[in-house]
This record gives sequence, C-alpha cells and structure tokens, in this order.
Amino acid sequence: MNKVQQIVDWVDARFPATQLWESQWGKYVAPKNFNFWYYFGSLAMLVLVIQIVTGIFLTMNYKPDANLAFYSVEYIMRDVTGGWLIRYMHSTGASMFFVVVYLHMFRGLIYGSYQKPRELLWIFGMLIFLCLMAEAFLGYLLPWGQMSFWGAQVIVNLFSSIPVIGPDLSVWIRGDFVVSDATLNRFFALHVIAVPLVLLLLVALHLIALHEVGSNNPDGIEIKKQPKDEKTGLPLDGIYSHPYYSIKDIFGVVVFLIVFSAVVFFAPEMKGYFLEYNNFIPADPLKTPPHIAPVWYFTPFYAILRAVPSLFGTQVWGVLAMGAAVMIIALLPWLDRSPVKSIRYRGTLYKSILAVFIVAFIGLGILGALPATPVRTTLSQIFSVIYFGFFLAMPWYTKMDKTKPVPSRVTG
Ligand code: HEM
Repeated sequence: MNKVQQIVDWVDARFPATQLWESQWGKYVAPKNFNFWYYFGSLAMLVLVIQIVTGIFLTMNYKPDANLAFYSVEYIMRDVTGGWLIRYMHSTGASMFFVVVYLHMFRGLIYGSYQKPRELLWIFGMLIFLCLMAEAFLGYLLPWGQMSFWGAQVIVNLFSSIPVIGPDLSVWIRGDFVVSDATLNRFFALHVIAVPLVLLLLVALHLIALHEVGSNNPDGIEIKKQPKDEKTGLPLDGIYSHPYYSIKDIFGVVVFLIVFSAVVFFAPEMKGYFLEYNNFIPADPLKTPPHIAPVWYFTPFYAILRAVPSLFGTQVWGVLAMGAAVMIIALLPWLDRSPVKSIRYRGTLYKSILAVFIVAFIGLGILGALPATPVRTTLSQIFSVIYFGFFLAMPWYTKMDKTKPVPSRVTG
C-alpha cells in the first residue's frame, strides 16, 4: 500500500472523506447526454470562489467609512499592487455570476428540471438567487459612488411604501433617515460575511439535494428508473461524473476563463453595463443623478416595478409586483402540469408561449435600463402582463399542449 493510500485510510477511519467524495462527485452517476447547458452549475461554483477570494483581498484595503470608502477604492485601483486586477475581477465576477446563473436557471426551465422529484432543489436554487440579488445590491453601495448612493436610496425607499410599518422599516434598514455612514457599515458587514455564509450553506444544500435525486438531462428521462447494465451495474444511460464530467467541466472552465479575462483586461466597464459611469463620481447626497438605473441584472424586475402605476396614492403595488415577479419563479414545479419535462417533447403551444416569454423578459431588461417615456412605460406594461401571464396561465396551457412520446433511452 502506498503512502497516499495509507493517509487516505487513516483519514477515512476517522472522517468519511472518501465516502463524501464518492457520493458527491467521484461515484455520482449522471446521465451521459449532458450538453452545453450543463456547464453553468460548475461555472457558478467557480465564480462563487472567484468572488470570495477576490473579496477577501479587496477587504484588506477597503475602508467602510463614508468619508474614506470612495478613495480607498481609488487607492486599490491605483496604488495597491495588483489591486486593479483584483477589483476588476470582483466587479466582472458580479456580472458574470448573473450571466451564469440566468443561463443555469434557463436550462432548468427548458428541460423541466424543477419538476418532481427536484422541487426542493429548485427551491434551494431560488433561495440562492434571492441571496445573490441581496449580495449584489449590498456590495454595490460599498464604492460609495453616485450610483451606489442613489441606487441604495431608491431601493431602500421602496420599503417605506409598505403600509403601516414602511417608514419605520426603511429607517431601520438604513440605520438613519437617509443612506449614510451607518448604512455603509452595516451593508459592509452583511456583504462580506452574513450573506456569503448563507450563500455557501445554500449551495451545499443545493448540491446535496441534487445528488440525492440525481440530475435531469436534455431528454428529461429519469435514468434511475432505467434497467441496470449487467456489466457495470449502472443505469443504461448513466456514467460516473469522474472522470467524464470532470473533464467536460474543466473544458468549460477554460473557455469561461478566456471570456472572463477578455472582459477583465479589455472591457471591465462593459460600456457602463458592468461598472456604471456615474459611479466614478463620489457620492453626493445633495445632487441626484438625472437617470438612476440599476445594474443590468436587476433591470427586468426594475422595469416591472416602474410599469405599475401608483394607485390610491401609494407606490406599494409596483413593489409588490416586483417581489411577486421574483417569487413566482419558485412556483414553477407546481405551475407546470405537463406530462413531459424537456422542451424536446413539448408541443408547439408551449414552445410559442416560451418564445414570447423570452422576448418579454429581454424586453423588460432593456426597458429597465432606459429612462422612462410614455411609450416605454406602455411597452413595459405589456411585457409585464406577458411575464406574469406565462406563469399564471401555465397550469392551463401545459395541460392543453400536445406533447410527443418520450423515448426510454436518451437520444444524445
Ligand atoms: C451560486 C449559485 C448556484 C450554484 C453554485 C449552483 C450549482 C449547481 C450545480 C453544480 C449543479 C449540477 C450541474 C448542473 O446541472 O449544471 C446544479 C444543478 C441545478 N441547479 Fe443550481 N446552482 C446555483 C444556482 C441555481 C439557481 C438560482 C437555480 C434555480 C432557481 C438552480 C437550479 C438548479 C437545478 C434545477 C439543477 C438540476 C438541473 C438538472 O439536473 O437538469 N441553481 N446547480
């Protein structure tokens, strides 16, 4: 027995290391037909690690103080060795996190990965998505630029429209009557430790849930229900994640890092979409920027917020609509009544409705980034109705849809 094996055995006698590795990855049996869409789970884990590591190094030189924050970021960019790289990796990582997670969620949508028995996996995913949005929002205040300050001002003010408790609640969140040093301090504490801890825990639960029920696949066939291969003892269309998907995921990581580096080195601001130009101006509580828009990944939901008019003298309806727009995604496992999972076996009705939904979602994203005009507001209202219609009418049209028979073996 070699030395390494001896050490492994020593550990295994005291801690289930090999057992954990084999159940979570090494001997995890996955369908053999994973395609492009299955890169994004491992990529989300990669971006999470990038964010945590670069975040630790940023924290070493950042100062969570309203008088110092903006200039400490400038100091990181100009004077700290490699500071510009660490900061651009972190700011690019934030946007890439959402690119990866939106694609990951879209995969779940087209392959019906949220359907039974993966409802809880989906719920953990949705909780991750909520945490991710909170994390991005909190982090955005930290550079203490104009958009940091006014973005936080607008969003925290939304809470004040909640009846009865609203005004007190928004003061409680800010720790002051306006966004101030107290707000910056608590957002820093939440951004660097509280939310990341919850995020890590949720990702662990997400993966444990996945490895319990097994992965779905582009055909939506449950490989666990297939007969076992006589020689290998694995389901007919199952393979071990290691080495097969280890290699596939490494290829994804390499391609992703090429794209990521291209952005970090050549377009870190991404024309103002990843780093907004107004945020290079220090926060000025006396000067409201003419156009306040959130970063691109929030714009679809922001457009829904703006689409809803104030009724009975309160803005709360828009806030409720925005909240509902996020939460309704969590209900997909119960809204979808289709007998098939994958889009490959769905009918024209479902496919057409999905296509309209995609147009509406992207449309909302574009409209949310632009200043409001009457025409744009009307468009946002139409797209918002389509957005909610897609979910609310789902039990009906997924039952009406003429699905195709699902084969017993994956099709590749
Ligand atoms: C930090 C964020 C996230 C990480 C690190 C993560 C990680 C992963 C990984 C590694 C997998 C297995 C590989 C794969 O199928 O791509 C996976 C599968 C899955 N994730 Fe996530 N995930 C995240 C966010 C989400 C979100 C926001 C949702 C949905 C709301 C979600 C829903 C799912 C589903 C349904 C599966 C199973 C897909 C299938 O088997 O077809 N995940 N996730």
